[in-house]
Amino acid sequence: MCGIVGISAKKNVSSDIVQCLNHLSYRGYDSAGLSITKDNEIFERKIQGKVTNLENFLNNDPISGNCGIGHTRWATHGEPNTINAHPHTISNVSVVHNGIIENYHDLKAILEKSGVNFISDTDTEIISQLINIELINGKKPLEAFKNTITKLEGAYAIVAIFRGYDDLMIGTKLGSPLLYMKAKNMIILSSDAYSISDYGSSVTYLEDGDIIVTEKSKISLHDYSLNTIQRPSKKIKKRDKDGLNGHDHFMIKEIKEQPDVLSHALSYYLNFSKYKINLDKYNFDFTKINRIIISACGTAYFAGMVAKSWFEDIANIKVDLDIASEFRYKKMFFDNKTLSLFISQSGETADTLAALRHAKENDQKIVSVVNTVESSIAKESDLVLPIFAGQEIGVASTKAFTCQLATLASLVLFLAKKKRHINASQEKALIEELVHIPSQVLDVLKYENDIKKIAKDIHKSSSAIFMGRGATLPLALEGALKLKEISYIHAEGIASGELKHGAIALVDKKLPVIVLAPDDIFYVKNLSNMNEVYSRGGKIILVGKVQNNQLKDLKLTGINIEVNGKLNIPIIMSIPLQLLAYHVAKLRGTDIDQPRNLAKAVTVE
Ligand code: AGP
Repeated sequence: MCGIVGISAKKNVSSDIVQCLNHLSYRGYDSAGLSITKDNEIFERKIQGKVTNLENFLNNDPISGNCGIGHTRWATHGEPNTINAHPHTISNVSVVHNGIIENYHDLKAILEKSGVNFISDTDTEIISQLINIELINGKKPLEAFKNTITKLEGAYAIVAIFRGYDDLMIGTKLGSPLLYMKAKNMIILSSDAYSISDYGSSVTYLEDGDIIVTEKSKISLHDYSLNTIQRPSKKIKKRDKDGLNGHDHFMIKEIKEQPDVLSHALSYYLNFSKYKINLDKYNFDFTKINRIIISACGTAYFAGMVAKSWFEDIANIKVDLDIASEFRYKKMFFDNKTLSLFISQSGETADTLAALRHAKENDQKIVSVVNTVESSIAKESDLVLPIFAGQEIGVASTKAFTCQLATLASLVLFLAKKKRHINASQEKALIEELVHIPSQVLDVLKYENDIKKIAKDIHKSSSAIFMGRGATLPLALEGALKLKEISYIHAEGIASGELKHGAIALVDKKLPVIVLAPDDIFYVKNLSNMNEVYSRGGKIILVGKVQNNQLKDLKLTGINIEVNGKLNIPIIMSIPLQLLAYHVAKLRGTDIDQPRNLAKAVTVE
């Protein structure tokens, strides 16, 4: 993920910025840069690759000054190269930015029509160009900055410095973290507390919409109307070497990384400016394909189950799905119009690798969706689609699952368009769904405290049932897997329609029943299932469309999920299930990141 730092001090800040960039580098990135104001000019140095490349650059061609900004970039819009690296400096302003400007293509089109020439193909440059225009039109930096951010849509953290203002930094955030520290003779802005914890022990987090202005040693915070506001400071722990960054477990850290990593995965595959899917870069011939076989294990298999419904419903391509350990013992009717697709976070799962080799022996074209691009499965594939989830350390797969879905959704749209099964406006509507997913995931993460209460209520249960229909059936299976593998509570995922065919015998007042019921065509049927459970004393937890009367009539607890699309539902609705499993396990004191008997990659059959 990208990282931001801004420093204003009574000394040259160049080396401190680079040090903070080094401490941000654990987050994964592909380019780095900084810019500094001095003698009414802005000096910029940026380069593709690691921070060491930037250090070498600065050793040969140093810059100095008392106020500057730095950035480690994990390419979202635009290739990972020097031109697209941050900061983005346009005449009077230099900007660093985390997140996505969702409406940048519209804003860019307006500026290009008025003659503005863009240097990079990033969304960030739109911020620099807009602020620069405001400054040229005579606005002071704070007004220029504020007028610009009111035009932006998306989740972002932004910091800017200005030519002619050698000690001024202005920053804001919406959805993406930004904080400041008043250190010894130094003010530091950052997107990550732990990367600056060598300089002090407390920071102040900005809230969405806050604007921070630092000038020499003065700090002022403002709301959108530029009224002065205050925010409390918080103690922070020293940067720890194990990468947990203050989280209790890797699993919760990885659950909370999902807005960032999903932004990255989606931006790699989607060209928001042209509302297109970027898969043409792979010269892979899909034209003959009229059937897809998908195979995987565990959570990856459930991702494949979601993808099956998408390929068939949106791209009109028949899909046969099989658990990898069963795959190679079945008659799969391979032919040259069939594509074999394998999904694996580790890329080393023995059953999935064996299934891939079996398909290859039958002259199949192999596509793999993996998180580890140097893995065995990737190396033996004809086309590898990376999911950009970053290293997933918790054995229970969370961010890899949602990034697998984001990557698969991109492939579905690409093939649907290739096969002319969707028109431009349908493609645009589906891409719009994907574009908003990171901010919607961010919204659902805010339910964590409600989910902690539900976890407290059910953590002593001996078993649990998860129910879903259609696109949420795979989520019921995945939610049950998450709960059982880290809390050791026996959990079963079923199709809601199957309740009366057996599982209802388990229902009593001790049994938590988690019902996945978004506002879709199955809602009424799901409601009757909830009534069946309620009338037998079952404890209902509704994840989906929660209506007030149900809370009273069915005495259920609910996590209200407002979204209702084709591609966003499975991703958004998996977040509460991840949080529920995590907090139940935490209350039960199990080894959440390394659950008993489990391995992160099952490299034996
Ligand atoms: C997921 O929470 C489990 N740890 C497990 O089911 C996992 O998804 C499965 O072993 C497949 O792993 P892979 O994605 O690395 O192939």
